[in-house]
Amino acid sequence: MATKPQLARKKTGAVRSGRRGEETSWSGRFSEPVSERVKRYTASVPFDRRLALHDIRGSLAHARMLRATGLIGASDLRAIERGFAVITEEIRGGKFKWTIEAEDVHMNIERRLTALVGEPGKRLHTARSRNDQVATDVRLWLRDQIDDILELARALQRSLLDAAERNAATLMPGFTHLQVAQPVTFGHHLMAYFEMFERDRARLGECRARVNVLPLGAAALAGTSFPIDRDRVARELGFDALCANSLDAVSDRDFAIEFCAAASLVMVHVSRLCEELVLWMNPRFGFIALPDRFCTGSSIMPQKKNPDVPELARGKTGRVIGDLVALLTLMKSQPLAYNKDNQEDKEPLFDAVDTVRETLAILAELVPGIRVDAEAMKRAAREGYATATDLADYLVKKGLAFRDAHEVVARTVRHAEGLGRDLAQLTLTELRRFSDAIEADVFKALSLEGSVAARKHAGGTAPAQVRAAIRRGRRALKS
Ligand code: ARG
Repeated sequence: MATKPQLARKKTGAVRSGRRGEETSWSGRFSEPVSERVKRYTASVPFDRRLALHDIRGSLAHARMLRATGLIGASDLRAIERGFAVITEEIRGGKFKWTIEAEDVHMNIERRLTALVGEPGKRLHTARSRNDQVATDVRLWLRDQIDDILELARALQRSLLDAAERNAATLMPGFTHLQVAQPVTFGHHLMAYFEMFERDRARLGECRARVNVLPLGAAALAGTSFPIDRDRVARELGFDALCANSLDAVSDRDFAIEFCAAASLVMVHVSRLCEELVLWMNPRFGFIALPDRFCTGSSIMPQKKNPDVPELARGKTGRVIGDLVALLTLMKSQPLAYNKDNQEDKEPLFDAVDTVRETLAILAELVPGIRVDAEAMKRAAREGYATATDLADYLVKKGLAFRDAHEVVARTVRHAEGLGRDLAQLTLTELRRFSDAIEADVFKALSLEGSVAARKHAGGTAPAQVRAAIRRGRRALKS
């Protein structure tokens, strides 16, 4: 039998509320009840109850540490564990009675615990403050969310790899200034997005490492006079390190800001892809079609099929950037240490997490449904003199200086344009009027296939390079 520790044995007697009406954990200090309006204004439980299960995880680890260091008794811990098991069931089953009388998720749960198990529930908050508790909860919660988001990003990347593989040799115009520039392969184009999301995953992983640091033990701001064991709590909760400074631990939310910054970049990348999907499925491009299940109609124009999902994803990017700006502004100029301002960290963070999660999930489903009109892409690539650079390169290989070659090709393009023909549709005789360096082998350089095949260096658009990039990508996704 474990002996009851000194602290746990000391009887403190019932705590009397100094106020009329509902008793809060701090009401002893006050002479009148808080107004209803203030209660509503200051309560965070309507939104922070999302943290409930993480709050319980943190509290259990704290309680076990209190037991291990002799700050509570074995029977206290047993009661706390029993109480949390009941509360967990109540929360999971949607039966837990949340009340703004108890302000936030922490006090709602603690109050219920005490109602269920009595005195041991009141001992739980020994050597802890809601300030280090909430910072711990948010970090625990965000860590789990980042792990899910990394998985969702992986799923989207996998669908991009598959689509790129099917289209490693599909020709399309590459654009600069949204004007036809040079031929590329659609697989190469899709792999550009794969790379963006690869960096996003790296950024989220680095952010996770800074999220995964334990604030608990900082108490309100100055630490605690109790002989706590922070390492033990960190180990139990899977934190990699301890926050090194108690003031910093309870006050900074840079980890949440950093997450929102990484999430904003994910969304910015998503918005670029979605913008292209919208363009490509416009009949004037006609490069792709999206399955009907991702489109919606118009209530007035019967012919319409709108790319609502990509448009919404593009729009939701603004929300996440807004969440980032909200958190940056929240943090700016806050004096050390904890300020109630920080209660406002949750809704933007939750919103950013939800938005990124839902967006990645829906895109991972949408991308495999993209139907490619390879003929339309090829036709478009033939239209804008996409191989003009190839002709210039060809002339350089025949001995012309690049600037002279550029000039020759510019004149050739102007001529072809007057005839309404592509470069490859000019005859050899016509072409030779602009430079006698041009020979019969020019048509290989002028073909779309020849143009992309020639770009066979690392990072180039040649189908062989695209396939190599896809192989590298598949390996990267496994790690
Ligand atoms: N609900 C609060 C928050 O989210 C918990 C911490 C409250 N601490 C305090 N000293 N009032 O920030």
